[in-house]
Amino acid sequence: MRFETKVVHAGLRTDQTGAVAPPIHLSTTFERDPASEPIGADTYIRESNPTQTQLENALAPLEGGEAALAFASGMAAGVTAIQSLPPGSHIILPDDAYYTYRTAFDDFFSRWGFEVSVADMADPTNVRAALRPKTKLIWMETPSNPLVKVVDIAAVCEIARQAGATTMLDNTWATPALQRPLDLGVDIALHSTTKYFGGHSDVMGGALIFKKSDQVYEACKHARHVLGSVPAPFNSWLVMRGIRTLACRMRVHSDNGMAVAAGLEGHTALSQIHYPGLKDDPGHAVAKKQMSSFGGMMSIRVKGGRDAAMKVVARVKLFTRATSLGGTESLIEHRASSEGPGSKTPQDLLRLSIGLEHHDDLLADLKQALAG
Ligand SMILES: Cc1ncc(COP(=O)(O)O)c(C=O)c1O
Repeated sequence: MRFETKVVHAGLRTDQTGAVAPPIHLSTTFERDPASEPIGADTYIRESNPTQTQLENALAPLEGGEAALAFASGMAAGVTAIQSLPPGSHIILPDDAYYTYRTAFDDFFSRWGFEVSVADMADPTNVRAALRPKTKLIWMETPSNPLVKVVDIAAVCEIARQAGATTMLDNTWATPALQRPLDLGVDIALHSTTKYFGGHSDVMGGALIFKKSDQVYEACKHARHVLGSVPAPFNSWLVMRGIRTLACRMRVHSDNGMAVAAGLEGHTALSQIHYPGLKDDPGHAVAKKQMSSFGGMMSIRVKGGRDAAMKVVARVKLFTRATSLGGTESLIEHRASSEGPGSKTPQDLLRLSIGLEHHDDLLADLKQALAG
């Protein structure tokens, strides 16, 4: 079955009511029979509930995985993967990993006895150089947030395989509509479902999708159950609803992304556009190999530094000035300001989440903002 068909039918099953849209089960607890055995598959909401299970059954086949776990947020998903590792594990993180994951490593994981090395994974040999005997996890993010760097997934997986390390890839920006990490050798796909899966800027969630239903999956499931990072049933339901339109939304996000990037190429007010769909982008060749199209996320660098970039942000009329990404509406963000004082993001960088509007209108808005 093609991806477009899979998303429309993902996890759908009719119950005895015949309802076509799935129900939402809000119950926190589930009855046992007189022998105290569970009547159904669930006992208590912190472990599982039917709506969450339905979402997980929808998510796993979209990435080609055997199992999935849904979480309260993308952060909860990533953190749970770390919490499931043995004490003293060494983890290799990309230098442009999503900012709050880097904060989690700096503020918490290092205190808890995990070791971390940061590598520029645009060159896979840096990953090999960072390996240690205790390396348990190699974490990738491609395209990355916010520098839109591209990692050669198959090359890094081969290095991990030789080292006996698990691989996890944050596939939030591409989604399985555009990039299939598990097919390229990755063990776990990580998602903030707050973004494209939800798709309407109205729900928070996260997911881990596992190639194999193995001990790594069981360890993450145990950590989620005990530490309590499950999503609310309504949020699981909203993510499921978003999934139905994922394929067609991603097609428009990608077409619009390409049109906006191409329309801005060579603009005299810009020093650089980070978008792997552009032939001159350093990640283009690898992205072309492993993505079916290049998505709706890009960053632009404004000549004149922070002040000039802030003026562009102030002048947009159609783009909304807000953080996050993956909704129907286009967003623009001075990323360093959002990340705060510890940010290493260049001050001239504006991150764009290209929405589903007509790309001519988006380009017109950006051009008037850049013209001043
Ligand atoms: C690439 C990426 N991964 C993970 C996250 C974290 O997700 P959440 O905000 O749902 O916790 C984000 C949030 O912006 C993100 O952009």
